[in-house]
Amino acid sequence: MGSVIIGSGRSLPKRTVTNDELGAIVDTSDEWIVPRTGIRTRQIATEETCTDLGAEAALRALGQAAGGWQREEGAIDPATLDMIICPTLTADTHFPSQAARIRERIGAENAVCYDMSCACSGCVYGISTADLMLAGSAFDRAGAEAAGRVPRRNVVRRVLVVAAERLSRLVDWDDRATCILFGDGAGAVVLEWRDGEDGVLSSYMENTDDTARTLWCDSAFCARETPFAAEGEGAAEREGLDPYMRMAGQAVFKFATAAMMRCTEEALERAGLSVEDVTLFTPHQANERIIRYAAKKMDLPMERFQLIIDHVGNVSGASALIALNEALCDGKITQGDIACMTAFGGGLTAGSCVIRI
Ligand code: ACO
Repeated sequence: MGSVIIGSGRSLPKRTVTNDELGAIVDTSDEWIVPRTGIRTRQIATEETCTDLGAEAALRALGQAAGGWQREEGAIDPATLDMIICPTLTADTHFPSQAARIRERIGAENAVCYDMSCACSGCVYGISTADLMLAGSAFDRAGAEAAGRVPRRNVVRRVLVVAAERLSRLVDWDDRATCILFGDGAGAVVLEWRDGEDGVLSSYMENTDDTARTLWCDSAFCARETPFAAEGEGAAEREGLDPYMRMAGQAVFKFATAAMMRCTEEALERAGLSVEDVTLFTPHQANERIIRYAAKKMDLPMERFQLIIDHVGNVSGASALIALNEALCDGKITQGDIACMTAFGGGLTAGSCVIRI
């Protein structure tokens, strides 16, 4: 028994931005960016909202729109979703949540919705949390059935995890250290609890205090004053507020490479598997060098890793879901294969899950 992926989708904005275009805005070049990051182009939302991107990825995951991947024939009815979890840093509104905006757009009238703030680990935190919800509900329902009573908790049989990001709105386009890295987009999976099959074989999530502000973005609304502050109160705090994302590149690199190895090993151990058992690694795409480092450490050829960073850049929590979808749509993994998804990001968050497709 387990949480099985029954649908997968992705959505990317129309506008492609090349490294040469960035070179016209800040002092950088294709020659600098490609060897250090692996990024050649990224998609930037000029007209699409987070809701547009998330809803399109969701509809494709459900088979309600063309271009997605489904485990079985036929589209999935959005009304059968019990829950929508949206990992995002860039929701269109503080509330309703981004998940609720997507719910309304796709017609998932029975879904309970909420967002998750866990930066680039959103894919793994989203799937792991959905899996915990599905397993918890199965346990609750089994107890209710045995005792001949109603379940004590929400019944959760189908969950949509949809990570949607417009990081282009958090990026300081004058900061060449960060603006070259990020792109916009969304990735989605539909998970269903099945008694006779396994799906998510293991998951692992962890947090580390970011005392050194390795990855950071202040909340812009904190700069607002209330009528109750004494004159000058809070001024120092407001003065230091920075509405853009900031990153200590080399510290992130160190954290990311260690977290990638640690979390992958932990999730594989929990599943009772080794790296040899994994058909395809679909990691968060922060930087191609981080993935190459992990491949070398694990003594694996790069063909065992799904690389999408060259054409989408870093799409935070959506990256690995987009990578998984590309691999499924291209037939690089099929039913019965094992995927390993590892991610790390602001928080500092990190985690990994091992999934039988
Ligand atoms: N173009 C040209 N020069 C640049 C650029 C750029 N886009 N960015 C930085 N530089 C310059 C710096 O100003 C610096 O110049 P200086 O020596 O004259 O001061 C020089 O290049 C070296 O700067 P570093 O920051 O030391 O560059 P580094 O070699 O570390 O590469 C990079 C930067 C690619 C970001 C690297 O640190 C890295 O890969 N870090 C991992 C961070 C990451 O992947 N973040 C993703 C987002 S977070 C996440 O998803 C978890």
